[in-house]
Amino acid sequence: MSHLSNVWFSVTDLRVASGQGCWVTTTDGERYLDFAAGIAVNSTGHAHPDVSAAIAAQAQRFLHAQVNVYRHDLLDPLADLLDEITPESIDTFFFANSGAEITEAAIKLAKQATRRPHVIVFSGSFHGRTHLGMAMTTSKTGYRAGHAPLPAGVFVAPYPDPLAADHDAAVAGALAGLDHVLKSLTAPDETAAMILEPVLGEGGYVPAPQAFLEGVVERCRRYGILFVADEVQSGAGRTGRMWAVEHYGVQPDVICMAKGIASGFPFAALGTRRELDDRWPTGSHGGTYGGNPMGCAAAIATIGVLRSPGFLDNVVARGRQLTDGLRRLQAEHDTIVQVRGPGLMVGTELGDAGRVAAVQRHCLEHGRLILMNAGTYGTCLRWMPPLVVDEAEIAHALGAFEAALKATA
Ligand SMILES: Cc1ncc(COP(=O)(O)O)c(C=O)c1O
Repeated sequence: MSHLSNVWFSVTDLRVASGQGCWVTTTDGERYLDFAAGIAVNSTGHAHPDVSAAIAAQAQRFLHAQVNVYRHDLLDPLADLLDEITPESIDTFFFANSGAEITEAAIKLAKQATRRPHVIVFSGSFHGRTHLGMAMTTSKTGYRAGHAPLPAGVFVAPYPDPLAADHDAAVAGALAGLDHVLKSLTAPDETAAMILEPVLGEGGYVPAPQAFLEGVVERCRRYGILFVADEVQSGAGRTGRMWAVEHYGVQPDVICMAKGIASGFPFAALGTRRELDDRWPTGSHGGTYGGNPMGCAAAIATIGVLRSPGFLDNVVARGRQLTDGLRRLQAEHDTIVQVRGPGLMVGTELGDAGRVAAVQRHCLEHGRLILMNAGTYGTCLRWMPPLVVDEAEIAHALGAFEAALKATA
């Protein structure tokens, strides 16, 4: 009998012993191509030598140097690096250990800085599994059910339907819905923040339409509401730019970073501007492990890899190869309803959760390819390989997918 909790859902039954680049090796010595990448986490691949060496070296110095007790010597260098790679509006950083902690922190900061109580989220959102995270998560009831009561003060505005026949009408309808929320549920001067994933992650790999994101930011500016970009999944190079907001030319007031920023070492960062941080009372937030030196070492090494020459070019090129390949398959298989998403954050909408599960199973058993689904209805197959993926590995994945489509037709 296993002594492990059953609360974790399982994507596969694999038992793994090690990983290298885009591949994992099971305890039986079988190799699998890992296009789940720790749920869009292993940005630099498994066991990247620079990241592993930085963690090993840091482990010889100290594992933990608590931020409130003293400041260790990696905090400022990491903040300086983040200042260089985040949007211009962002210059001040707070650290934690997970995405949920950092979205919570973002809302705590927004409430303190604006002295307003409410937050607006968008349909399909995923912001974490803490109680506030669940309250702000609308991608599936399964994440919330059985946990009531959830914190109050979270209001849900619509997100444009990616499958709508009339794209412009979908955007206009969603923005009208947001205006309605501001008129009927939470007045602008009660609303501290709007938190949005520039590309919906768990909600189905749906990029926000340009006009929609601009409309959200415009309303934030008009009403003095903070615009919080949750880049936990879409950030750290995943979309071919360092941050997905760069595709849109918008400046967030707060940016949430985790997952790929430290290659899988539990680490998260909130970025904001000094003027807002100055309104966050000292001592009103914190945490034992936030800014942990092991995490800082992993993040510094990861950022070094992400900024290395040609790294993001590879994300763009491999993303194009993947998307072109999927579109080619779409032309032959009408089961593929839509191929969407920038860089290596690509979703294929199959419109049928059973088919998605069958394709996933076939890819795993016959193609040695690990894939995950996404979306409220589980009808989207998502492609989120390590960002170091090469041309042959993308070709292998497309071949496995094509075989699965034929076998499950
Ligand atoms: C956009 C987004 N925000 C927040 C989270 C929560 O991150 P974590 O699982 O590290 O708490 C996730 C996790 O999938 C996410 O995709």
